[in-house]
Formats: sequence, structure tokens, C-alpha cells
Amino acid sequence: MTFERVLVVGAGQMGGGIAQVVAASGRAVFLHDEVPGAVERALAAMERSLAKLAEKGGVEPSEVLARVRPVEAIVDADLMIEAVVEDADVKRAIFREADTTLGAKAILASNTSSIPITSLAAATSRPERVIGMHFFNPVPVLKLVEVIRAVQTSDETAAAIVSLAEDLGKVPAEARDFPGFVSNRILMPFVNEAAYALMEGVAEPEAIDTIARLGFAHPMGPLALADLIGLDTCVSIMEVLHEGLGDPKYAPCPLLRQYVAAGRLGRKTGRGFYVYE
Ligand SMILES: NC(=O)c1ccc[n+]([C@@H]2O[C@H](COP(=O)([O-])OP(=O)(O)OC[C@H]3O[C@@H](n4cnc5c(N)ncnc54)[C@H](O)[C@@H]3O)[C@@H](O)[C@H]2O)c1
Repeated sequence: MTFERVLVVGAGQMGGGIAQVVAASGRAVFLHDEVPGAVERALAAMERSLAKLAEKGGVEPSEVLARVRPVEAIVDADLMIEAVVEDADVKRAIFREADTTLGAKAILASNTSSIPITSLAAATSRPERVIGMHFFNPVPVLKLVEVIRAVQTSDETAAAIVSLAEDLGKVPAEARDFPGFVSNRILMPFVNEAAYALMEGVAEPEAIDTIARLGFAHPMGPLALADLIGLDTCVSIMEVLHEGLGDPKYAPCPLLRQYVAAGRLGRKTGRGFYVYE
């Protein structure tokens, strides 16, 4: 399966990045977002990212951008990659609509960080063709794609998505559909604990992040990373771990919730644990 036409639903920071790498692989991309102006903002971000990559010998930005077509609705394609807000009801509604719009052989994938793929598969009439395709932020830079099989996902679907990830220049790693999969089962409690350390006054944000960078050789500290991911997304993922695994150790840190309530979502709103220009 070569996936000549790929529909990306959700043109936020992840959807835009996914559209960019898929278009850079030579495929036609349809990009849809329900918020007016979101696709245009994603295209502008793509242009900036492609210009930087072109300096390092990447592909010609205009060629890649020409392959991305904004669409007003969910349209037929060989593959959908859904990257809308981390909300199970919103995602299930999109999977139901895609199931009726895309051809019977099309695969429906989600970039969710934590919502059970099994429940998205169950919302469709083709559960064996539903899978998790979890990219990492920033998508054009980070190599990993966590491929998550729902209980119902067929071997053919998993093999096709693993091979597509490789064709996009990524490295796929397979995981089963348990809360947080592998990546967020490990990463999010680390971020949450860093927020607790800050809330309890153990250290300032800079000190917490410096300790992780220089002590554990992480490229970014957990608070700077949380700002990049989005604090709202971090809280949603902790809620999924908390509910899905039933252990109070996964309860979201109250400071994270407070920042989200204040609209300090991280880089995307200009302020989270740090302030951005
Ligand atoms: N941010 C990260 O670091 C990261 C990493 C991996 C995976 N993810 C996952 O990717 C998904 C998107 O995250 P993001 O950070 O890009 O969020 P974002 O808020 O930047 O973008 C979400 C986009 O979805 C759009 N949207 C919402 N409802 C829609 C609908 N019904 N139809 C069409 N568009 C709709 C919004 O308008 C917005 O543009 C989430 O599931 C998140 O868990 C995020």
C-alpha cells in the first residue's frame, strides 16, 4: 500500500508537521481544520520550517507546499491521519465521519498521545483498518513514530503503517494499546513530577530543567518540554493514565491544572512555565 493521497485532519502544531513530512515524501496531502485560518497558519509555519531545512540541503519548499491542498471537509483519501485536539468524543466523531467518507480500503490513523485506539476503532465499521500513528514534536525533526495497534488492528494494517513511517524517513516502534502507550506512560509522570517539584518549591523552573539536561543528558528539561507539548495536552494525558490505570500516582499536578485554567498553555499561548516572545 503506497498511500498516494493522505488526509490530515487538524492543522495545529502536530497536523501541520505531519502534513509537511507526508508532502515532503512526494504524496498529495489534503489538510482540514474546522477553525477558519488554521490551515493558512499551518502553511505559513510549514514554509518557515521548510526554508530552514532547505538551508541544510532539504527539498525545495515550494514543491512541498504545492502538494498540500486545504480542504473544507473530510474528503476521500487512501489514509487519514487525525491530529485534532486530545478529546475522545471529538476524535470518535471524526472517525465515524471518515468511515463513511473514505473508501472501504482506506486506513484511519490517529496521532493521539493517549486516547485508546481500540475505542476509535470501535466507532467505525472497519476496526481492523484503524491504528495509532504517534508522531513526535517537532514532527519534521524527530525520527520516532510510535505505531499503536488497537485490539482489532490487522497485521496488514500494522505492516502498511510501519512501512509508511519508514518511507517518511522515520523510525517506527510498535506498542500495544494500553493507557499512554509506551512514550507517555514514561514521559508524562516525569513531567508531572517536575510540576510537583516546582509547586512544592523544591526548585525554580530553570534549576529543574538544568538538572534534567545536564544530569540526565536530556536535550530539554521537563518543564520546557511541557511548554512545547502544551500544558492542556499534558493534563489530558495524565487524566487518561489516572483513569485508565486507576492509580492515584497518575493524578495531574494541581499546578498544571491551574496554569491551564489561566490560559498558560505553553509556547502556543506565549506563556507556560516560561514566557515566550
Ligand atoms: N503537541 C505535542 O507535542 C503532541 C505530540 C504527539 C501527539 N500529539 C497529539 O496530537 C493531537 C494534536 O495536538 P496539537 O498539539 O497539534 O494540538 P493543537 O491544539 O495545536 O491543534 C489541534 C487542531 O485541531 C483542530 N480541531 C479541533 N477540532 C477539530 C475538528 N472537529 N475537526 C477539524 N479540526 C479540529 C483545532 O482547530 C486545532 O487547529 C492531539 O491528539 C495530541 O495529543 C501532540
